[in-house]
Amino acid sequence: MKLTEIQPAQGKLGVLLVGLGAVSTTFIAGVLAIRKGLSTPIGSLTQMGTIRLGKRTDGRSPRIADMFPLASLDDIVFGGWDIFTENCYEAARTAGVLEPALLDQIKPELEAITPWPAVFDQRYVKRLSGSNVKTGRNKKDLADQVVGDIRKFKAENGLDRLVMLWCGSTEVFLTETPAHASIEAFEQALERSDDSIPSSMVYAYAAISEGIPYTNAAPNLSADIPALVELAAKTGTPLAGKDLKTGQTLIKTIIAPGLKARLLGVEGWYSTNILGNRDGEVLDDPESFKTKEESKKSVLDYILQPHLYPELYGDVHHVVRINYYPPRGDNKEGWDNIDIVGWLGYPMQLKINFLCRDSILAAPIVLDVALFMDLAKRAGMHGIQEWLSFYFKSPQHAPELYPEHDLFIQLMKLKNTLRHMAGEELITHLGLEYYD
Ligand SMILES: NC(=O)c1ccc[n+]([C@@H]2O[C@H](COP(=O)([O-])OP(=O)(O)OC[C@H]3O[C@@H](n4cnc5c(N)ncnc54)[C@H](O)[C@@H]3O)[C@@H](O)[C@H]2O)c1
Repeated sequence: MKLTEIQPAQGKLGVLLVGLGAVSTTFIAGVLAIRKGLSTPIGSLTQMGTIRLGKRTDGRSPRIADMFPLASLDDIVFGGWDIFTENCYEAARTAGVLEPALLDQIKPELEAITPWPAVFDQRYVKRLSGSNVKTGRNKKDLADQVVGDIRKFKAENGLDRLVMLWCGSTEVFLTETPAHASIEAFEQALERSDDSIPSSMVYAYAAISEGIPYTNAAPNLSADIPALVELAAKTGTPLAGKDLKTGQTLIKTIIAPGLKARLLGVEGWYSTNILGNRDGEVLDDPESFKTKEESKKSVLDYILQPHLYPELYGDVHHVVRINYYPPRGDNKEGWDNIDIVGWLGYPMQLKINFLCRDSILAAPIVLDVALFMDLAKRAGMHGIQEWLSFYFKSPQHAPELYPEHDLFIQLMKLKNTLRHMAGEELITHLGLEYYD
């Protein structure tokens, strides 16, 4: 592939957000503030990252934003759905992540973003109820209404392209059913409002039918079912997910590859969090927590590969807890206790206490994924975008593959995919030629 084969980022990009909560409002307010020169996009690879091209001796490390035809922040228009009627300014105040002093400087722009009525059914998010909700004959009708919202938004704002991200609450744990097996079965299930189709799948179906790149920032199944992967192939739509890799799991996927690289054994990894935002409240419901727990727990198994190293990682006691604790709001505190084993079986411990800000870590990733998904679409890439695994706790992957969780392998995959798009040599880190 060559950069000239990628359609240019002409015109405006509409970013559709399902759920205008802490993550979405922190992302939107951040982009608006950066656009006005009030702040800097720290944590964003698309805005601050560079990419090495060619040999180490070539001295070529352009900024990703300069090298690739990404949409400019100035060309982004935001739209979204929520079950609450609060506009984006009010929702950002409710979320309590960003200081009012910053929000007030972008107040008119934030107030102009008001959520469209949501597709919502409380059976899938037990702890929430809101009034800004669509009614319809069946789930197909609700999907058609979402398509209607999207087309209206596109026309009214003169948008050229769109991307959609599910930043809504974590839905209850569901597993694949026959209704998810093919588009045909799925569309019939939509018509009869089958229970195995939660709200997030209705949005995903609407986006993918329209060829709009779809990302799932939460751990619920959403587009990670054969029917929607099949639909994405048919409509040429990129897919990415699931569950943004931010606080504790980010650290886990930084530390675990290091321990494994040095063949230090792991006997146990106990992770606990306190969190007081709405996400924490939703995750206080055991069924939503189960979805999150599955997503958080899979990481270690794949990184440590116990089947290859049974004596080091064959019996890891991995425990993940999230406790809802309102005084902390979005400022999560995580503790990890890792029981490791060294030379001759001598035990050691590693303790990590991460005082993080969930949405501050999530917002730059939402921006990167939105821009990369738009790039992928213009580059003619469709289906699961495995190169964006870097951003997710449970990377969506082809059924015959295991997902890659090691952050450093994920970054190499992402950058090599960019090099591939630019027709540049892939970097293998072999480096023998420097010593010939
Ligand atoms: N903050 C992080 O670091 C992080 C990391 C990984 C994943 N996530 C996930 O991202 C999602 C958003 O997190 P948050 O902190 O912004 O949560 P939040 O509770 O502040 O926001 C979620 C919003 O989604 C809305 N919503 C729920 N169901 C909806 C529906 N069917 N249609 C439209 N809107 C709907 C809610 O009303 C709420 O306003 C959660 O699922 C969370 O688990 C967050």
